[in-house]
Amino acid sequence: MKAVILVGGEGTRLRPLTCNTPKAMVPILNQPFLEHLLRYLKEHGISDAILAMGYLPDPIQSRLGDGSHFGVQISYLVEESPLGTAGAVKNAESFLDEPFIVFNGDVLTEIDLTDMIKRHREINPEVTMALTPVDNPTIYGVVETTATGMVKRFVEKPTWDKVTTNMINAGIYILEPGVLEYIPTSAPCMFEDHVFPKMLKMGKPILSYPSDAYWIDIGTPEKYLKAHHDLLLRWSDRAVRTQGESQIHTTALIEGPVLIGEGCLIAENVQIKGPTVLGPRCQIAASVVMEGVVLWEGTQVEEKTVLRNCVIGSCTHIGSSCQILDDCVLGDDVTVGEESKLASGTRLWPNNYVDPGMLQST
Ligand code: GTP
Repeated sequence: MKAVILVGGEGTRLRPLTCNTPKAMVPILNQPFLEHLLRYLKEHGISDAILAMGYLPDPIQSRLGDGSHFGVQISYLVEESPLGTAGAVKNAESFLDEPFIVFNGDVLTEIDLTDMIKRHREINPEVTMALTPVDNPTIYGVVETTATGMVKRFVEKPTWDKVTTNMINAGIYILEPGVLEYIPTSAPCMFEDHVFPKMLKMGKPILSYPSDAYWIDIGTPEKYLKAHHDLLLRWSDRAVRTQGESQIHTTALIEGPVLIGEGCLIAENVQIKGPTVLGPRCQIAASVVMEGVVLWEGTQVEEKTVLRNCVIGSCTHIGSSCQILDDCVLGDDVTVGEESKLASGTRLWPNNYVDPGMLQST
């Protein structure tokens, strides 16, 4: 079975991390997200993927090439303007003459695709849609199903008194090629808002595939950080793992789970507490304290700075004695002056220079 992976969105909610990097290529445990997805697809027997791209296609294509490294043959399509999730699949029509999978390119999951494909083949609907449970259905579109598991109704952001289910669309579908006929060529079109509701009105069968396997979409900084915490906290040994050579001073205290990319320099009396990831070639100066953070490659942190539950983009320079705390997100190449204190949730865009003392104090 072929997969169409939707990676054309701008990822606005994940900015500033997506200012220079498409969402599908943000690192997860120091590897581009799409590489995790390709490995997962391969494990489930998918060895043919079509990447529907739009925003920043070059970093995707240059990194993944023909896909042979992952045992997946990759074809690329680039949209001149966004076609929407369904329009992007319609654009791939010439590749699709058998049932195929559509995957949102920001979903990190362990849903059993092999079983989902089996179920699709047994029941033979026009669409099989994976569903995943959420704690708060009022901020999502939920999917109501019948006793036999057929999709009955889509309800957008129900108020609590109207909540009948906590199952939402997981962004993974198996489609029969005939579904392409319901997608117009002339205008951008979304599966969620147009194609699936239209199919229900027409009485076309959409099978649900509910699963409580791990699922998260990495589309906001909070969820991006949570995905890291979830993955690292699963390490039963709570280890400190290094990828290649790094220089770690003997007085540094590192409490796992922590992943350290190659070529990092960690100076004396640094304290790092997991779940934390250091990208390759990060330089952490003396007496820095870090907990629950994700640093992208080439970031430098000067002495006595405290970082907690935040994400820092590539090649950013953080001065000494700063405090960068909960849910702060800094883009690439940001410079933070010494003694800066960033309020929770601060976002700094690439190339923003932050003067010492100009920042809001916590
Ligand atoms: P936000 O701007 O933060 O909403 O992110 P997004 O642009 O990625 O949109 P959203 O999270 O709703 O998209 C879900 C998935 O569909 C992501 O993997 C997107 O890359 C993809 N996607 C959304 N719109 C398009 C499109 O017009 N074309 C293609 N090829 N993919 C799209």
